[in-house]
Amino acid sequence: MLPKAKSTSGPLYPAYLPTRPDGFTATIDVPPFEGDEPGARADPSKPNLLKSGVQATNVTPRIGSEIRGVQLSELTKEGLDEVALLAAERGVLIFRDQDFADIGFDRQRDLHPTMGYPEGTGPEFHVVYADEKAGNLRTLLGQRTSYDLWHVDQTFTSNVPSTTFFWVLEMPESGGGDTAFTSLSAAYEALSPTFKHVLAPLSLLHTSASVGEVARVGTERALKEAVSTIHPLVIRHPVTGKPSLFVNPTIARKIEGMLPEESDSILKFLHEHIRSLDFSCRLKWEKGSVVVWDQRSVAHSAVPDFRDGERRHVVRIIPYGSVSQPAFPDLYSKTDEV
Ligand SMILES: [Fe+2]
Repeated sequence: MLPKAKSTSGPLYPAYLPTRPDGFTATIDVPPFEGDEPGARADPSKPNLLKSGVQATNVTPRIGSEIRGVQLSELTKEGLDEVALLAAERGVLIFRDQDFADIGFDRQRDLHPTMGYPEGTGPEFHVVYADEKAGNLRTLLGQRTSYDLWHVDQTFTSNVPSTTFFWVLEMPESGGGDTAFTSLSAAYEALSPTFKHVLAPLSLLHTSASVGEVARVGTERALKEAVSTIHPLVIRHPVTGKPSLFVNPTIARKIEGMLPEESDSILKFLHEHIRSLDFSCRLKWEKGSVVVWDQRSVAHSAVPDFRDGERRHVVRIIPYGSVSQPAFPDLYSKTDEV
């Protein structure tokens, strides 16, 4: 184990430190609503985003594009719709050399391409922060052999989180703290026609009493405050129309209508399957990087490998898209609990 690092100065972006004012409760229970899908109205040739001088290179053929030569802050509304479409197609986009971190809360919120949310709520800023006092994900989870925690954010409501913006304010001085992504559509494609047929009718119970939430507030409170919903195990992507293997290892741990051993055994296989290097990529943050990804077709994991006590400060905005739909409605059946 490396010696504990000491932070030598305060955070570069103190206004973005996470706070929980007295009486604050996060909005987790969101009733179903008509979600906005900006990617669906974008021009497929993306003339406003992929102008001359803009370079988009594949991170791998199956997932991820790295984009240079364009400022998100200067895109038109049409250009932002095209960002949502490209994110749906490529799973995850990494925009380099952005001024996004420095344009302020209001413009960050306004520039976000997916503004759909139910009345009375709003897209929220989520701060992921680690330092000497706050600790890091390893502190939260306790001793383990490894700390992969593959998941899709906040899938416990009928509307599913969509095009997510995640931008870096400060990275650990000694490196590390990458974010990993895996394509749930490529993972689905790799399965045999016979197994795909087995999965098509199935649905999963998603609950806010996730592994991370239980570690944060304790089992009793997490269960008491739990919000749950049922999504098809294979969803149809609302923009691309592609099937997506919509598993979520930390949030969805029960196949509806199955006995525990049956459900556990299928989910164990699927959770191992989506981690494959065949479908995944790992993004290294640089100052000025903004990552945009589509939560319907991509799962992600933090890589909390940076030294204890070092500061890592990242912010994201998660909007809600449309209500999940089964990829194969004719085969899909919502089964009753056993
Ligand atoms: Fe997450």
